[in-house]
Amino acid sequence: MDSIIVRGNGPLKGQIPIAGAKNACLTLMPATLLSEEPLTLTNAPRLSDIKTMSELLGSLGAEVTSLQDGKVLAMSSHDINNHIADYDIVRKMRASNLVLGPMLARLGHAVVSLPGGCAIGARPMDLHIHGLEALGAQIELKDGYLHAQAPKGLKGAVIELAFASVGATENILMASTLAKGTTVIKNAAREPEIVDLATCLRAMGAQIDGDGTSEITIQGVDRLHGATHPVVADRIELGTYMLAPAFCGGEVELLGGKMHLVKSFVEKLEMTGIHVEETKAGLKVARRGARVQAVDITTEPFPGFPTDLQAQMMALLCTAEGTSVLEEKIFENRFMHAPELVRMGASIEVHGGTATVHGVEQLKGAPVMATDLRASVSLILAGLAAEGETIVSRVYHLDRGYERVEEKLGNVGAHIERVKDT
Ligand code: EPZ
Repeated sequence: MDSIIVRGNGPLKGQIPIAGAKNACLTLMPATLLSEEPLTLTNAPRLSDIKTMSELLGSLGAEVTSLQDGKVLAMSSHDINNHIADYDIVRKMRASNLVLGPMLARLGHAVVSLPGGCAIGARPMDLHIHGLEALGAQIELKDGYLHAQAPKGLKGAVIELAFASVGATENILMASTLAKGTTVIKNAAREPEIVDLATCLRAMGAQIDGDGTSEITIQGVDRLHGATHPVVADRIELGTYMLAPAFCGGEVELLGGKMHLVKSFVEKLEMTGIHVEETKAGLKVARRGARVQAVDITTEPFPGFPTDLQAQMMALLCTAEGTSVLEEKIFENRFMHAPELVRMGASIEVHGGTATVHGVEQLKGAPVMATDLRASVSLILAGLAAEGETIVSRVYHLDRGYERVEEKLGNVGAHIERVKDT
């Protein structure tokens, strides 16, 4: 397993290109199952999760061809010859459950392994199941697999989500495009990745209104045709790299960054004293003062502060002036980066879903371990500002969601290198 070595850094300077969004691409790819015609995605990110989704779609009989060094995914699911999403693939990546809705809509049946828990939480699928059952599917759990069928096809319904689940909204949205009649999803997730999926589905001929709000209305159609769709910029990669100059000082421009994708994050970042401005090419971030100020964070569904940027923000607040309180309201176990940051000299108390961070002058480099995707990058960011050397192990977590991180940070002056496992 590779490690990444980071050394304490001076100010950063330069530009970082922002890739297409992992969490958009992982729901756009299963959308190919909804049509016999080809679906091509451009601006796709080069990540191991994308490879895993390609492997899963391939196991169902779809073809996924990666072009232009992985930035273009040409997909065709004309010949689906298997409707079972196997545990071996699904357990590696929870987003595999997003083939359930499209397969049900296209084939009338699907067998999808339950993903099982992951580091950050139990990750149940009750909201996905209730929504698809409301559309007329019969779903039974057997031997760890969801056996779903809709012999008479799916029928539109009004569905109210108990929680604005991103994945449940995506599964229901995709399935309802081919259901008979009208579907209304209430308390729908409002994330930009939902809007990107709806935009792609409309390009394929779906009739969808209200995406980006809490109520999405879909008029079912008989079939969807092919399309070419550009993946939206990754707001979590954007927010992550916006923090780099906040840790080390300097000025970095994030190419392709869009303010509307990270509004609540920017509000909090500016409260710490960081300067953010929109440029023609994206967003420019600079740290003027010596030390950032403490700020309180509560994670919420979009447009609130994103849970996927909580770990990175906690790492920054470890050296803020004052005490910050972070409340993690989305996942039940998403503070695993805290003990690793404490190894670097941070002062953090965790009680349930609340972490209290008492700012210290400076962190000290140390060997630390990545536990999940976003925790791993928060340790790298902390290493940028720490005194001495930080070695982050198990960086396979990192490669799931950040393409070429050592290249992107190295290009703006960070002392960072990847050590291949011998
Ligand atoms: C998506 O996960 C993202 N993943 C996550 O990003 C992100 O953290 C999350 O949305 C919240 O924004 C992808 O898009 C591939 P949820 P998802 O359904 O869809 C509970 C990353 O780092 N819940 O909105 O799984 C669930 O347990 C990843 O890129 C149910 O109880 O998130 C969790 O506590 C991590 N029942 C909360 O809702 C359900 O049926 C949020 O889950 C579904 C969810």
